[in-house]
Amino acid sequence: MDKFETMISEEEIIQKVKELGAKISSDYEGESVVVIGVLTGAFIFTADLVREITVPVETIDFVSISSYEGDKSTGNFVFKKDISCDIKGKNVLVVEDIVDTGRTLKKLKELLMMREPKTLKICTAFDKPSRRVNDLVPDYNCITVPDEFIVGYGLDYDGRYRQFKDIRIVRKENE
Ligand code: IMP
Ligand code: MG
Repeated sequence: MDKFETMISEEEIIQKVKELGAKISSDYEGESVVVIGVLTGAFIFTADLVREITVPVETIDFVSISSYEGDKSTGNFVFKKDISCDIKGKNVLVVEDIVDTGRTLKKLKELLMMREPKTLKICTAFDKPSRRVNDLVPDYNCITVPDEFIVGYGLDYDGRYRQFKDIRIVRKENE
């Protein structure tokens, strides 16, 4: 059995998501936005965040580009699911669960920029900047986290633990 240690409480996450939603709403005042959640991890954050956004949300869509296995990033990407909307000329807000090495979002950003959106910004629930291997900086970030493998609030360890309402550090059996 894996053991856990709580890192971020449910209350703190809720508060930070509210604050970020207000900031995004004020930044996009007078505009509308297309929200693209990155599956699977961002499904909970996307659902919470869009309910804190007061400007018109034209479309909510999801994309899947990950090839993450266990807790190590492989660097190989497959477009498992593309969006079904046209983003040309739109304000696109990409919503991610966590930015780790930055490889996933760098690649996704490149692919989406080829479709000529009006603007493209990246919003992440959690940012682990100490692990970055490139120059990717999210435009919006709820909570900066240290270099620990975390689960909950949509984040998984081999598909599990996404349903936890708080963020926990996994202490594997053999550690
Ligand atoms: P990156 O391409 O290395 O930035 O990896 C991004 C993806 O790796 C995230 O969308 C997550 O799915 C996964 N990931 C990175 N760190 C963690 C973590 O601490 N817990 C769970 N998933 C993680
Ligand atoms: Mg992910």
